[in-house]
Amino acid sequence: MWKFTPELEMLRDTVRKMANEVIAPRAAEIDLTGEFPWDIKELLQRQGIFSVPFPESLGGCEQKHTAVCLAVEEIARVCVSSSLILQVQALGATPILLAGTEAQKDKYCPPLASGEKLCAFGLTEPGAGSDAAAMATTAELRGDTYILNGLKHFISNATVADVFCIFAMTDRSKGTKGITAFIVEKDFPGFHIGRVEKKMGIRGSPTAEIVFEDCRVPRENLLGREGEGFKIAMKTLDYSRPVIASQAVGVAQAGLDFAVKYSKERVQFGGPIAQLQGIQFMLADMAAQVEAARALTYHAAALADEDSPQLSYIAAAAKLMASDVAMRVTTDAIQVAGGYGYMVDFPAERYMRDAKITQIYEGTNQIQRLVIARQLLK
Ligand code: CAA
Repeated sequence: MWKFTPELEMLRDTVRKMANEVIAPRAAEIDLTGEFPWDIKELLQRQGIFSVPFPESLGGCEQKHTAVCLAVEEIARVCVSSSLILQVQALGATPILLAGTEAQKDKYCPPLASGEKLCAFGLTEPGAGSDAAAMATTAELRGDTYILNGLKHFISNATVADVFCIFAMTDRSKGTKGITAFIVEKDFPGFHIGRVEKKMGIRGSPTAEIVFEDCRVPRENLLGREGEGFKIAMKTLDYSRPVIASQAVGVAQAGLDFAVKYSKERVQFGGPIAQLQGIQFMLADMAAQVEAARALTYHAAALADEDSPQLSYIAAAAKLMASDVAMRVTTDAIQVAGGYGYMVDFPAERYMRDAKITQIYEGTNQIQRLVIARQLLK
């Protein structure tokens, strides 16, 4: 059992209780309706959970990255869709925390930390997924205003967020050094929400396009300097990948807990199937993988709190390993339950559908391998 500071232990206990008592009973319905759970957002807001990714002055924890990971793991254990509310808030705020001026932080962080406003992160485009630098969205400075044109897609929380960190090309000839970051508000002229996606899992977390048509962004909303956007995006992902790993650990734990409970209750061949060595070996393998993934994830979170130069490497490793574990363990949870596991009356099939995205977003696991290999070979 990992030991954290009393502050972190208290946060985890609070979120666990809230997850078990309030979020878990809503999870199947959130998945079924595919609607953003405003009630859960308001619950997190009332409990002060949105402050967790922010500095202590805004109500956050000293070890804020570990804190986000622990909270996201606990929520994902009962409802991955709901865990994205906090995860995307942390992701969207990180570029501001990393590169914002004091004036930008003073303006944007308090309403995000209180949960009054939601934020999101706009990097991906139809032609720029794994190859994030291939983006086509442009930003052109005219007087004191940047004019953005283009389209971002697969943007988590796009339809519910108020504030976005958006990456756009200010000088295509400079490649990654021609990418610039901006803080964009949903009410800026020329900002539109496009197509809303229908998804296999995380169905209560809205994913949509953002369309920029001569979108006017005041110069003061430039984040960092022109040309620093790609590094800001990559650093943000380094801090956020441990959070995806936590989400994966949470849903993997859910799969394991389900399989253990089911195997003790299900009677075949004259006794509970938990007495069968074939089932016991499956449960043991699932448990060992969950524990290993959790250990690596907490290590990555600790490195994020230390701003360690090793973060990029270990964060990619944690995301890779934990998401693969989540996929295997949730698939095995269905196998343990046989035909019942395949039915929507049981939660295991939702766990598997929700686990799948953790192998894909914030960089596919092939991209994580690329990040790891580049670090090894440099
Ligand atoms: N920190 C700081 N700088 C970094 C960096 C990091 N982690 N990684 C790269 N850089 C710098 C490099 O040092 C380099 O700078 P110099 O030119 O000064 O040396 C510059 O950035 C370009 O780096 P690369 O040559 O490595 O760039 P690349 O084009 O080969 O791309 C990549 C690298 C790792 C493949 C990157 O494109 C990538 O991470 N792709 C995946 C994109 C991704 O994860 N998208 C997720 C979308 S958000 C999401 O999914 C959220 C959600 O819905 C919940």
